[in-house]
Amino acid sequence: MKSKPADISGDISGLDKSALPLHIAVIMDGNGRWARKKLLNRVKGHEKGADTVRMVVRSCREIGISFLTLYAFSTENWQRSKAEVSALMVLLKKFLVSERQEMVVNNIRFNVIGEEERLPGNVQDEIQRTRDATKNNNGMNLNLALSYGARSEIVRAAKEIAAEVQTGSLSVDAITQETITRHLYTAHIPDPELLIRTSGEMRVSNFLLWQIAYSEIAVTDTLWPDFTRNELIQILKEYQGRDRRFGCV
Ligand code: IPE
Ligand code: IPE
Ligand code: MG
Repeated sequence: MKSKPADISGDISGLDKSALPLHIAVIMDGNGRWARKKLLNRVKGHEKGADTVRMVVRSCREIGISFLTLYAFSTENWQRSKAEVSALMVLLKKFLVSERQEMVVNNIRFNVIGEEERLPGNVQDEIQRTRDATKNNNGMNLNLALSYGARSEIVRAAKEIAAEVQTGSLSVDAITQETITRHLYTAHIPDPELLIRTSGEMRVSNFLLWQIAYSEIAVTDTLWPDFTRNELIQILKEYQGRDRRFGCV
């Protein structure tokens, strides 16, 4: 058999359009290691990582993904150095300002999941502007997880549900899985069928713990700044070959 040349084009023609995940969630990891390998400051890795974010958002929109959730900053990431945290916030603000128009043009609806109130005021303002500017879009939902942690998300949901029980608007017996789901940041977002993590770490790092109960997981050794459109497509092809059984046979 004649061997085919390596597929480096990022060609989406081999994808089964009828079997795409509705929702892809990504743990974007490895910016710091990418920078260290190049003897650069970690912040340079985050800057390069922001370019990968642009590429992945464009690619998912083009492929026809409905929901894309990107883990950009965790509740634990606040413990990093002040310099790194503020550089990340500056980068985030820049990203929102520079990408807003493209999101509008490409019919992308922007949202944030996480403790938005902990973010600097100027970042909160840009988030609100971006949400407002894109609120009528329906091409793809882009969710940025910012100051996000699944455990605190679940605690928050538990408190809201407890308050409803306390006021009498909800009975204990009426609490179901649906009740929990409705009180998460992702209330209006379907569970991700596919979870991607870059940089080779085999862990979920407090991301969407409730929502990923039956997600297919793809871990690649590629560091986030080096992640390509072609690799995204390869992961989607691999996902399409999987047998999702949901506990059945
Ligand atoms: C991911 O890259 C970006 C954030 C968590 C903000 P890291 O900064 O975690 O990079 P590594 O894991 O140290 O290489
Ligand atoms: C997960 O990466 C969080 C984000 C990608 C925002 P981390 O680098 O913070 O997680 P650990 O330390 O590898 O678990
Ligand atoms: Mg990391």
